[in-house]
Amino acid sequence: MKKLLISQDKCIGCGICVSVCPAYHLTIKEKKSVEEDSLCIQCGQCQAVCPKEAITVERLASSPVIPTKDINHNITPEQLKDFYLTRRSSRFYNDKNISKETFDKLIKYATINDGSYFNIQTTEYAVIDERFQEFKKHLLYVLKDEIDKDRYMDLHGDQVNKNDFVRYFNMYMNGEFPKDPFFHEGRQAIAVFSKHPVDAAYGMTHIESMAHAMGLGGFWLGYAITASELEPEKMMDFFPEIDQTKRMYAIFVLGYPKTNYLRTTPKAETKITYM
Ligand SMILES: Cc1cc2nc3c(=O)[nH]c(=O)nc-3n(C[C@H](O)[C@H](O)[C@H](O)COP(=O)(O)O)c2cc1C
Ligand code: SF4
Ligand code: SF4
Repeated sequence: MKKLLISQDKCIGCGICVSVCPAYHLTIKEKKSVEEDSLCIQCGQCQAVCPKEAITVERLASSPVIPTKDINHNITPEQLKDFYLTRRSSRFYNDKNISKETFDKLIKYATINDGSYFNIQTTEYAVIDERFQEFKKHLLYVLKDEIDKDRYMDLHGDQVNKNDFVRYFNMYMNGEFPKDPFFHEGRQAIAVFSKHPVDAAYGMTHIESMAHAMGLGGFWLGYAITASELEPEKMMDFFPEIDQTKRMYAIFVLGYPKTNYLRTTPKAETKITYM
């Protein structure tokens, strides 16, 4: 089936599109690129590589493509590694709130080049700001329900001491613990929704890095991930504006960090197996 618009006027039959196609969907006939009857995955690589701008993926015809060939890719692996090293999770923030413009820039920049299978891009984001306190309450009551039903601990197994966690949680909920051990000083957050958790994690990881580049800091709210794994629909109840066939897969709480860290936190070495 045809998936592309190929301009017969512009095409010079150079075959570069043919050489990059992962579906082997293109061939050159009579000095023009033509589609075979195969599984075009609509990856857009042929469009990205064509020197004559002769190809458009039809379904994505209204999506912008951004020229990259003049961009100087001058970041070295060492610089990128050092940038990763200075990223710390931040839970304590100064009083300045993140503006809507800053959130907009953060999310747009971070996700500008995110890929997805068939370029379907099911990922979408919500900035939780004015409704933050309400969200906190919603999440804590979903968690409380799960704890009461003993399901929370089923998921976390021996990573958490059940009695300690339940005591800590109840103390906080009863106002006997003065700090917020879940959201800390968080007042704003980004939630990510998608059809598949990998898409969501991919997008949120870029947001975490871009936030660091913009002088922001934050942390992944593991409790929200747990709540969503156990009660996906209840978590989606909080977000009626979002497509309810999607799931909320991650929350990144963020602000302007108060703390300057001097070194990395201790981490187990990444295990790599060569085979
Ligand atoms: C999936 C995931 C869930 C996390 N959940 C929480 C959380 O609920 N609360 C929190 O304070 N930090 C959370 N973190 C942050 C980790 O605790 C953090 O990575 C660790 O403290 C190491 O610190 P660093 O990121 O500064 O190196 C989470 C991190 C990840 C990747
Ligand atoms: S890369 Fe462009 S110009 Fe070259 S064959 Fe393909 S469509 Fe035609
Ligand atoms: S969109 Fe991807 S899969 Fe489809 S023809 Fe172009 S390169 Fe091949």
